[in-house]
Amino acid sequence: MITVLSISSFVETNGRYLMVACGTDGRHTMYVCLCNGYTDKEIKTAVRENGVKTAEEAYLSLGNGFCCGTCSDCANDIVASELPHQKVLAAE
Ligand code: FES
Repeated sequence: MITVLSISSFVETNGRYLMVACGTDGRHTMYVCLCNGYTDKEIKTAVRENGVKTAEEAYLSLGNGFCCGTCSDCANDIVASELPHQKVLAAE
């Protein structure tokens, strides 16, 4: 878990604002979901590594589903942009 030390800025994307913050790891991170503290990188990794196909699935794989849902459009855009990069999981 990363603790946010300071908010650097807000980035507008598709009419929504994302928080860019500096965490204890010294990196600037874009927070997509403020309810759960999920970042764009975590959502992209969930798509690439866990084989999820929707934002709801990505969130559940990270631990919690949507709360207020304010971030759902942005999260779905991120998932859609990452799907072409998704690893093909072997059938069991
Ligand atoms: S900001 Fe993501 S569920 Fe509320």
